[in-house]
Amino acid sequence: MGEQDEKKLLGVGLDVGTMNFVSARRGSDGNIVTSRIRDAFLDLPLEAKKMLKLSGADFVEREDDVLILGDKALETANVFGREARRPLQAGLISPSEIDSLEVLGLLVKSVLGSPLVSGEYCYFSVPAEPVDASDRDVVYHKGIFEKIISELGFTPVSSNEAMGIIYSETAQDGFSGIGISFGSGMTNVALAVNTIEGLSFSLSRGGDWIDSGAAKSIGTTQARICALKEKGIDLRNPLDRTEEAICFYYKALIEYALDQIAKRFIMIQNQFALPKPIPIIVSGGTSLPGSFVEFFISVFERKKKRFPIEISEIRHASQPMNAVANGMLVQAIQEYEE
Ligand SMILES: Nc1ncnc2c1ncn2[C@@H]1O[C@H](COP(=O)(O)OP(=O)(O)OP(=O)(O)O)[C@@H](O)[C@H]1O
Ligand SMILES: [Mg+2]
Repeated sequence: MGEQDEKKLLGVGLDVGTMNFVSARRGSDGNIVTSRIRDAFLDLPLEAKKMLKLSGADFVEREDDVLILGDKALETANVFGREARRPLQAGLISPSEIDSLEVLGLLVKSVLGSPLVSGEYCYFSVPAEPVDASDRDVVYHKGIFEKIISELGFTPVSSNEAMGIIYSETAQDGFSGIGISFGSGMTNVALAVNTIEGLSFSLSRGGDWIDSGAAKSIGTTQARICALKEKGIDLRNPLDRTEEAICFYYKALIEYALDQIAKRFIMIQNQFALPKPIPIIVSGGTSLPGSFVEFFISVFERKKKRFPIEISEIRHASQPMNAVANGMLVQAIQEYEE
């Protein structure tokens, strides 16, 4: 590949999430290549090495322990009767996992790989300031990821998570719309007109909140609810009491997000003109159940009369698990455009 061709492929996007890290870059065939790892790990005593070797599991050996990264960590945790550790909680580095920063570096490396050229731009997602968790702060979180990504040889640039959805999904709307990322630890919202961010915030409720709420109300574990939910449910057709409980929490989460959008938009309304109706684009792992968009629309219909923003359409991101990473990539590529 010539120098000119290589330059065409520079720039990488990274979605840093509570449950998943996703990277996106351009492949030589013109396609976008994404890579995902579960944001989890398991640390085992050195003695476990033999058994891990036999089972063929990938692990990282450290001085005092061995680490298993990603989805395999969850499976192996079950075998050992343990729970996998999660370095992030509600979108940000977990205060109880500060000592797992080295592990975060390994997880990021596994999806980013090495830069194509030294100092290649990597745009990575950070949540907006949480409006309902004043004790959480994004400054430390952002600083740590800047450090991790630059130690891998990239030039890191942080960017708002939900704006990623605007960049990847609203070219057809002149980069105007409301992007909502329904994740695991958070729900992130951004409103933009012609790429200009007018409003963004995050809520510390997402898939984990649905799982724990539904679990408490019917007396089971959060992990069980999560597994059942991910196996595939239809929000408009719950099959039993458990699925019904999950649907109640879904409805509450969507109502909460819409109420917060309305409330926060009213606060900035005077400084920000919306020339025409804009779309809402829903994305993220929590938007994957069957009928999610229809369910969202039915919740919205009830609020529409008093909603302060004119909405043209409500639609799903084309790839709900990759939209944020793709949007980060769109911005990274801009660094190389003349
Ligand atoms: N098929 C599915 N149905 C319902 N929920 C799902 C499905 N698959 C994954 N999820 C849920 O999606 C969430 C993970 O989504 P996502 O990868 O977008 O989050 P994240 O970006 O890691 O988190 P955050 O943005 O909150 O930091 C989890 O709560 C998971 O249980
Ligand atoms: Mg996310």
